[in-house]
Amino acid sequence: MQKDLLTIEELNGADLEKIISMASEMKKKRFDLSRRPLEGKSVGMIFSKSSTRTRVSFEVGIHELGGNSIFMDMSNLQIGRGESFADTARVLSRYLHAVVIRTSKHDDVVEFAKFANIPVINALTDSFHPCQALADLFTIYEYSEQLKGVNVAYLGDCSNNIANSLILGAKLAGLNLTLSSPQKFAPNEDLIRNPDRGRGKIRWEQDPFKAVRNAEYIYTDVWVSMGFENEAKKRMRSLKKYRITSEIVGAAAPGAKIMHCLPAHRGEEITDEVIDSHGSIVFEQAENRLHVQKAILTMLLDTQKNGEFESEY
Ligand code: CP
Ligand code: NVA
Repeated sequence: MQKDLLTIEELNGADLEKIISMASEMKKKRFDLSRRPLEGKSVGMIFSKSSTRTRVSFEVGIHELGGNSIFMDMSNLQIGRGESFADTARVLSRYLHAVVIRTSKHDDVVEFAKFANIPVINALTDSFHPCQALADLFTIYEYSEQLKGVNVAYLGDCSNNIANSLILGAKLAGLNLTLSSPQKFAPNEDLIRNPDRGRGKIRWEQDPFKAVRNAEYIYTDVWVSMGFENEAKKRMRSLKKYRITSEIVGAAAPGAKIMHCLPAHRGEEITDEVIDSHGSIVFEQAENRLHVQKAILTMLLDTQKNGEFESEY
């Protein structure tokens, strides 16, 4: 595994397999607190955007691994008064053993990681949310017992951080991913094409009913991501037809599972009836953030310690 987790692009197939098997082990043995790979270590959490799942699952995960987490609201750091990301990274590397960052500009996280000599984990930027996509892959694996060739449809804003990370995740895992949106919110073609990992089929289909045909999983996210609130009205109008309703679910494969990274805006991108249905696995997905992030932290800190991956799990 490389030093940081900034996007899924940095992972190879072996990393993904290891994350999935370790997360599965950690889920089974959640309360076996005898293994404490983060004993004596401190992990900084720098956030400039709201969070429920990511913040709490990281803090609980760090505690369960024997470590200490330090939450920092970015506006209270000197970054808010003009200190550079590079200098902040240099300083925090002298105290901490890893940093988890959530902010707007992806390039700020790249800059931070460049000057940090400790692992840096992207906890969401406007462009990517790798921890979410890895938890999603783990969740699909739990239900389907495989990833390669599994049919997933994603409806809604196909140009946001969740769609981008799902595209990279699908390429790594070999999922067949169909993204559906109007032209204005079409997926990033470059991300789909380059690099071609030779696995999985990724396509864009404007008709949501056609997009979900044969889908074993239907995934959506909010139509208005954090930082895009000024576009809310326009987005509601153009994405209306991509709402996950019972009719959409009825056009998918029988027994299709419903996924959402959460938070959900019920009645906008998904109806109550669908998110509360038997096929909805959104809360399992949310729980899996914890197990997957514990695996990621363990692997990144092991990589740093040994120069290569080695773990007792
Ligand atoms: N899915 C997710 O990242 O949720 P939070 O914004 O609550 O962390
Ligand atoms: N696309 C959403 C994801 C939230 C977890 C956002 O960026 O707000």
